Amino acid sequence: MATIDENIAMWGRDYDWSQHGDEWSDSWGSAAAQWYFSLLPRIRDLVPAPRVLEIAPGYGRWTHYLRALATEKLTVVDLNERCIAACKERFAGDTHMEYHVNDGRSLAMIPDGTIDLVFSFDSLVHAESDVMQEYVQQIARKLTQEGVGVIHHSNMGELDGYRTRIAALPFFVRKFLRATGRLDTIDHQWRARTMTAAKFATVAQAAGLAVLSQELHNWHSVGLIDAISVFALRDSQRARANGPTRVFRNADFMRDAEQARRIAALAGAR
Ligand SMILES: C[S@@+](CC[C@H](N)C(=O)[O-])C[C@H]1O[C@@H](n2cnc3c(N)ncnc32)[C@H](O)[C@@H]1O
Repeated sequence: MATIDENIAMWGRDYDWSQHGDEWSDSWGSAAAQWYFSLLPRIRDLVPAPRVLEIAPGYGRWTHYLRALATEKLTVVDLNERCIAACKERFAGDTHMEYHVNDGRSLAMIPDGTIDLVFSFDSLVHAESDVMQEYVQQIARKLTQEGVGVIHHSNMGELDGYRTRIAALPFFVRKFLRATGRLDTIDHQWRARTMTAAKFATVAQAAGLAVLSQELHNWHSVGLIDAISVFALRDSQRARANGPTRVFRNADFMRDAEQARRIAALAGAR
């Protein structure tokens, strides 16, 4: 469970931000390697975009790259004043940025029909299904007619049955499975337990959106505990051209991170 209050306390008070969140890119070797090998390829056809909204930027790990891809305006909204203050300082020279602190749910500060791309990565995995529902419902109103969303969220709930079955196994069996890399050694307690890719799709459809694709993927885990959902208005040309939701169950997400780290290191990239 990761409540809004817990997200306020963790990222606004307790977390040591001295590395600006770049430490979460260690598996890729650097934030730059993660962006260029993992994130940019997934949004390449969606950028540049005139008006971009990033939800939950933290200290701006992805904001740094999104700035150049937002040709008119980049708006960032985070639950924590501390994170928005850090972004303001980091991107002080950038005149096309707009900053908001929210309550962890509301996008009321964004005018309807003004966002061409909404993006969030490595943040809303900590948002439970009630929060995700509110965000998705609002995003549906904020998007322009051909706007698109790319949201990284938890799929932890899909593993409920699996986790129950694993918990029922004798200790020595779990120990063996862990030792042979077939069972997680981390608990991932900060992943939202109530959220799944299927719930995202249901909520999005109810809000008038079409889910173009869903990539269910691992994250320092054996199971596919996360998902990246890409969506647009149901009556957009983009949605009509897309057809049914494309689903990719990607168990190699972290293996690709390791490959990216090795390849980037060849050129001495940071
Ligand atoms: C793990 S940090 C990641 C930040 C950034 N996306 C990155 O990858 O470096 C999580 C961020 O999400 C923000 N956050 C968590 N829950 C949120 C919510 N419901 N609405 C807005 N921001 C939220 C936190 O304040 C924090 O800045």
